[in-house]
Amino acid sequence: MKNIYKNSPKNLNKAKKLLRKNNIIVVPTETVYGLAGNAYSNSSIKKIYKLKKRPKINPLIIHYNNIHSVKKDAYLDEKFIKLYKKFSPGPLTYILKKKKNSKISMLANANLETIAVRFPKNKIVRDLLQNLEFPLAIPSANISSAISPVNCVDVLDEFGKKIKFILDGGTAKIGLESTVVNLHGKTQILRPGSISKKQISQVLKKKISILKKINKITSPGLLKRHYSPGIPVKLNCKKKEDKAAFIVFGKKYRNGNGVFNLSKSGNLKEAARKLYKTLRKIKNLKYKKINVVKIPNSKIGIAINDRLKKAAY
Ligand code: TXA
Ligand code: MG
Repeated sequence: MKNIYKNSPKNLNKAKKLLRKNNIIVVPTETVYGLAGNAYSNSSIKKIYKLKKRPKINPLIIHYNNIHSVKKDAYLDEKFIKLYKKFSPGPLTYILKKKKNSKISMLANANLETIAVRFPKNKIVRDLLQNLEFPLAIPSANISSAISPVNCVDVLDEFGKKIKFILDGGTAKIGLESTVVNLHGKTQILRPGSISKKQISQVLKKKISILKKINKITSPGLLKRHYSPGIPVKLNCKKKEDKAAFIVFGKKYRNGNGVFNLSKSGNLKEAARKLYKTLRKIKNLKYKKINVVKIPNSKIGIAINDRLKKAAY
């Protein structure tokens, strides 16, 4: 397809040129695919919000190459340094206090005094960041409140011809968005992901919690309904209802006849990788409702259940 571009030096150059002209492109990351734009440019940020139909109060994550490039935009404290050393580059997003003289577009962070920063691990997006003069705002490449894309075809499913340039990085390794940890004010997980509460607590040597009640100020964008396939989703089902698609987990279940197994071997990482793909497949097969079995609520299962709960809202 003509808007999908393979990873090559020539195409990376094309991508850089587009970004420097404040165009929006799609890039792979290890979590999900994202819409990338120059974080210093108001016009780029406006284009991102418009494409995603995203409410302006839902701020974006700013993606950097390394710790040096983030210094001019945010205050870096001890907690951040500890976590950075352990988990970055990788699927962890930090909420930090923004510097007054930062050049990050105010439109990207909903006028908050904080910014979300992440250092992605995917080699393609890292190559891009290394060679640009600005960081990239990269929200997931889906229409607001819909299912996040884990490959190029998913991106086309979301945006069709509206996106002119998609860098192909194959299927996203993790398949769920990064863990978001708040480090300004109360240390807390705002969005669970593959890096768990336990792992973060261990590094900080401190007990932390996962945000339960959604609070407008600390987490404006954590909408209750999200990751939605657009049809009713029922959780913790013991069996399949008539005409429903049934999402299951573990060796007890077989695929086929409307049954979709996230992992026959009961592997939560595999289930995470397959979750969005499965939801999208079911949506495109035009099922009218989805039943989901109980998924173990440990490790990345916590993030899977978080997404399922929002999809069911
Ligand atoms: O894995 C990821 O993080 C992906 C890939 C593409 O990097 N990106 C992603 O971005 O998931 P997005 O825009 O779909 O989700 C960003 C989340 C939202 O829940 C938003 O509310 C929160 O981060 N966020 C951003 N800035 C924030 C801030 N200053 N304070 C609190 N939450 C913030
Ligand atoms: Mg998103």
